[in-house]
Amino acid sequence: MNKGIFITFEGNDGSGKTTQILLLSEYLRQKGLEVVTLREPGGTAIGEKIREILLDNRNQGMYPVTEMLLYAASRAQLVSSVIKPELEKNRAVICDRFLDSSLAYQGEGRGLGAENVWAVNRLAVDGCLPDITFFMDLDADASMARLVAKGEGTDRIESEEMDFHRRVYSGYIKLARQYPDRIKRIDVNRNPQEVFAEIRGYMDKLLEKAKG
Ligand code: TYD
Repeated sequence: MNKGIFITFEGNDGSGKTTQILLLSEYLRQKGLEVVTLREPGGTAIGEKIREILLDNRNQGMYPVTEMLLYAASRAQLVSSVIKPELEKNRAVICDRFLDSSLAYQGEGRGLGAENVWAVNRLAVDGCLPDITFFMDLDADASMARLVAKGEGTDRIESEEMDFHRRVYSGYIKLARQYPDRIKRIDVNRNPQEVFAEIRGYMDKLLEKAKG
């Protein structure tokens, strides 16, 4: 277990992570915790530049391995310069996406496989793994429909074919089965308050356990 609490949110694009991250950070602050919210890729000056390269629609020629390495590079910078130091200070760190995104998107979506993703990311995360992960469970078809309804245009990853997003979703399902203690599968086909009530329940349990 980390010194602070490391919480990550995962799921297909458009699964409503942002709203829940806001609600959770507010809740934890009310409980007296110091909260840091971050996003991947990005969260540092260098990471935000890498993010631009990754999401730019003009970079259609990017090879899967290049993509995997760039996500890992952004992660390495974030872990060493922000996540680890903040956890050392006993803070609650909430990250919008982390290693599971690479396992789902690059490992399954791009077909690089979990072993390769782990090999590269072992270095990037340097032992720093989430204490709890909320998988916002919205299947690929529903998630793409939400994105279209939003009408904000799509980035390089979002504009991938439907089968890619379906592989990503099945990657998440696999991960949730593989790590049932850490990954909590949250049904997001409810109103945001109901979704949050479930997340709050898991957080309360974790905080109790951390108190010992
Ligand atoms: P973002 O706009 O942050 O998406 P969202 O709001 O859905 O979280 O863009 C991040 C994109 O990068 C998203 O499509 C998922 C993808 N991604 C990966 O493919 N691998 C990764 O390791 C991470 C962190 C993100």
